[in-house]
Amino acid sequence: MKLNKKNILLGVSGGIACYKAPEIVRGVRESGGNVTVAMTQSAMEFVKPLVFQALSERPVATSLFSLEEESRIGHIKVAETADALLVAPATANIIAKMAHGIADDFLSTAFLACSAPAFVAPAMNHHMWDNPALQSNLEILKKRNIHIIQPDSGYLACGSYGTGRMAEPSHIVSVLEDFFNLMENSDQKAKPLKNVRIMVTAGPTRERIDAVRYLSNDSSGKMGYALAEICRQLGADVILISGPTALSPPAEIETIHVKTAQEMYAAVMAKSGQAQIIIKAAAVSDFRIETPNPQKTKKSKTLTLELVKNPDILKELGRKKDKNQFLVGFAAESEDVRHYAEQKLKDKDLDLIVANNILQKDAGFDVDTNRVLLVDNNGVVDLPLMSKEAVARKIMDHILATDKCRSIIGFN
Ligand code: PMT
Repeated sequence: MKLNKKNILLGVSGGIACYKAPEIVRGVRESGGNVTVAMTQSAMEFVKPLVFQALSERPVATSLFSLEEESRIGHIKVAETADALLVAPATANIIAKMAHGIADDFLSTAFLACSAPAFVAPAMNHHMWDNPALQSNLEILKKRNIHIIQPDSGYLACGSYGTGRMAEPSHIVSVLEDFFNLMENSDQKAKPLKNVRIMVTAGPTRERIDAVRYLSNDSSGKMGYALAEICRQLGADVILISGPTALSPPAEIETIHVKTAQEMYAAVMAKSGQAQIIIKAAAVSDFRIETPNPQKTKKSKTLTLELVKNPDILKELGRKKDKNQFLVGFAAESEDVRHYAEQKLKDKDLDLIVANNILQKDAGFDVDTNRVLLVDNNGVVDLPLMSKEAVARKIMDHILATDKCRSIIGFN
């Protein structure tokens, strides 16, 4: 039973090859997997949802806007619980939507919300297959580590001869089986970050004003600590550099406690050379008082503070970064989140930036949940609201799926 208990989300888009999709459901189930089917409107012109419901023994998702369906089979829940997403047959239309982040129905929306490995089995007329627009969309998907299951050549439903016939269902199922076998047999799957050194920064910094007062922010450290913990679970050798928080130091993680931005700068710089992945979730104060009063400042009508700039630790890391280092920043924004995140990605020479809108309820500082955009040179992934632990897992999945990270850690 090679697909033992794996949850496969099968997206069926509308083409004549839809008639073969029920065979995929049967093949996955024979291999021990579970299948949830999501159909596009055009797929339903070819095959009735009832066929898939009977074969999968699960409700079939057909509409994003059906209250009843969404409560039984919500697109986010389905996306989050899938071990793999397979789109078969995949039309040129769904491929274009997947490549460009268009989410206008259940399947395309679930795809965006799904961080599980994705497989696409294209099926179309051979002229459509050869079209540069389609080919460049496939290239985009490949760059994002989406597996393309090559279509066969032969006589097509339209009567012509060429490439575009969907791969046989038995082959598609065997691609999934091979993928999971490989993953499960490899120690690298369970602990893909074994022997990888990761530095995570977390929490706020405190900049002294006088003997009793300081400048700081609301960071609780929860986001950074969740990242450190997930990296540890993935086998990494983690070093956590933490500003003052109320959290207990995580077990089995080397933790360096700092207070000020300058102390964080020194600790990060001393250790950064050893880290292959650096994730800066800390909320570092941009300014400090140059010469804090060593006494308690006496009460007066007004108090003017003169602030000087703190070093930008992340920017310095970006400047020093070599090709074997993967650098991740965070962006705490209150407006134009994507725009400012893209600017920071570029200015600080980052491989990824995780942007949160700190004005959103339940996101950002001092709450247990977060809602983030993952922004890199391939585009933007908009994650729904979830626990900080789940966000941390998604961030690590995203990093692990990039070619650069896989090449740094030797995971192919
Ligand atoms: O700790 P929590 O309560 O769980 O909250 C999580 C969080 C909101 C703190 C976290 O999700 C977050 O957004 N962290 C980054 C906060 C921040 O400082 O953002 P920024 O946009 O000001 O800075 C951008 C990046 O530069 C950050 O990676 C920051 O660590 C880094 N930076 C900033 C200033 C500075 N002097 N040195 C830096 O390295």
